[in-house]
Amino acid sequence: MAESMRGLKRSHRCTEVSNKNIGETVTVMGWVQKRRNLGSLIFIDLRDRSGILQLIFDENCVQAEGFAKAETLRSEFVIAAVGTVRKREGAFNDNLKTGDIEILVSELRILSEALTPPFPIEDGANTKDDLRLKYRYLDLRKPRLQHNLKIRSEITTLTRAFLAEEGFLEIETPMLTKSTPEGARDYLVPSRVHPGNFYALPQSPQIFKQLLMCSGYDRYLQITKCFRDEDLRADRQPEFTQIDMELSFVDVDDVIDVNERLLQKLWKDILDVDVQVPFARMTWQEAMDRFGSDKPDTRFGMELKDVSDIVKGCGFGVFTGAIENGGSVRAINAEGQGAMPRKKIDALVEFAKTYGAKGLAYLAVNEDGTYKSSFAKFMTEDELNALVAAVDGKPGDLILFAADKNKVVYDVLGALRCELAKQLELLDKNTFNFLWITEFPLLEYSEEQNRYVAMHHPFTMPMEEDLELLDSEPGKVRAKAYDIVLNGTELGGGSVRIHQDDIQEKMFETLGFTKEEAYERFGFLLNAFKYGVPPHAGLAFGLDRLVMHMVKEDNIRDTIAFPKVKDASCLMTDAPNVVDEKQLEELSIAIKIAQDKQEEPTE
Ligand code: AMO
Ligand code: AMP
Repeated sequence: MAESMRGLKRSHRCTEVSNKNIGETVTVMGWVQKRRNLGSLIFIDLRDRSGILQLIFDENCVQAEGFAKAETLRSEFVIAAVGTVRKREGAFNDNLKTGDIEILVSELRILSEALTPPFPIEDGANTKDDLRLKYRYLDLRKPRLQHNLKIRSEITTLTRAFLAEEGFLEIETPMLTKSTPEGARDYLVPSRVHPGNFYALPQSPQIFKQLLMCSGYDRYLQITKCFRDEDLRADRQPEFTQIDMELSFVDVDDVIDVNERLLQKLWKDILDVDVQVPFARMTWQEAMDRFGSDKPDTRFGMELKDVSDIVKGCGFGVFTGAIENGGSVRAINAEGQGAMPRKKIDALVEFAKTYGAKGLAYLAVNEDGTYKSSFAKFMTEDELNALVAAVDGKPGDLILFAADKNKVVYDVLGALRCELAKQLELLDKNTFNFLWITEFPLLEYSEEQNRYVAMHHPFTMPMEEDLELLDSEPGKVRAKAYDIVLNGTELGGGSVRIHQDDIQEKMFETLGFTKEEAYERFGFLLNAFKYGVPPHAGLAFGLDRLVMHMVKEDNIRDTIAFPKVKDASCLMTDAPNVVDEKQLEELSIAIKIAQDKQEEPTE
């Protein structure tokens, strides 16, 4: 039966007790991790968010009744224990912070009993993800997740303090709002008062933070939820958190400077790692050409080399065809992998196909200098030698080639070099390569929509020197946009915003919006700009991704208390779910899908 805490007050968390307290009486409370009976002795590992502390019940101690009670303790019971701190009589446990002490218990209360949990509450237990997520409240008891959420809290606390010191004001913006311009699909919320009308949950506070600049707040900060209905990946959730900021009377370098110092402080205070500022910068074009990605992982080489010039006259149709179609042939050198078995190469080809490749050509340099290749028979000796030289190939190397439109070639080789680096264990989690990517293209051509769309959003400022290209060659205009990349992840991004009417109008025109359409969507911002707008710029970090890197996790889920799974559902609450007929009626909503297609709520 559960007892009350009455008369007891916790004096320490488990690992706050140390050998400095020897001889003192302490009161600790927490969960039973483990019970061991040794005849006249019972040992309990007591767990709380700080860690583990050993309790010992001695049959001969005054509390015989307490001993009997201790015998009933099972995993995950919540207990309170009063006792004396003493040096461990048994062997010390070097793995525990409290490994040299134990508490000889004089009073035990069982505050709550517990069912046997569906999986062991310990790190590394081999439990299926679905089960962990269904019982997320139990999973969250594990030290690893507790550590991750503690670091997450430290990051937000330090960020707020640092940015407050830099003059930022924290201001909240609405969650029930109008569609924002980030370009993913919106989550919609129906309005009861305005039947048939919907709010959109914000994909970011973009427009509001720009309005706050118009209102003179000068430096804005918000750590806030954003919602995007897009396909989930290991570093994407449908609701995620941004550290969002905007600054007035600044240019690119000012935004970069304050954020470099913020990251430097977080790494120092939380990980005790010194990161050097300023960080490296690379233009988008250079990143694509060298790494096939706008978020390159620069911890390893294997850079792309354009070999189009070497193969443009060769006899291999796959290569010449790609070049004739305006594409290119590029290669990477997997050094030392020349002896890779055929089966493994085939697996790489399959991997490349998932990124749009039609195939992957290879050339292995044998130890005796001869070549083994899928296309050697179409090439002259000179051409083969030139290909090997282009990637600094040596005997024992494996060179992989993609031939296609540039975008496909970048995607395929960019992903392939990361995959190979993972397989070859080239990725050191203790190296932190921060990198700014700058000079993004302002626009990208959408085949689907048959027009240019904003790569970032329509308020991004073109580079002054490219303004005149807006009419003639929109695809060539570069933007005053920047992303901060860490070890191959886009941690954050931002831009200088357009604050001049004429440029904004030109931008909408290039995007194919009529004036009316632009006003319908963003009229309140465009109107606000007529009343005096400061030049402004900003940036947003993905907090979840930042935490992911600081705690060295591979999945964003492990940084979020209650995450969603791949199909955007929550396995614990079973959201999303059907709602009452009455609720739908109030909202004037009728469900159109056939009954048999409607998902039954689980339980
Ligand atoms: P952007 O769309 O680049 O910019 O988003 C900023 C950062 O938010 C993170 N992020 C995500 N994290 C987890 N799950 C997702 N689905 C997800 N989508 C984005 C990324 C990304 O770098 N308003 C602009 C910022 C600005 O211009 O100031 C914006 O939202 O880490
Ligand atoms: P095929 O002509 O399709 O038999 O391909 C001959 C070789 O070229 C095979 O090793 C293919 O994997 C490779 N290959 C095919 N298409 C491409 C491509 N677009 N880029 C690189 N290699 C390719």
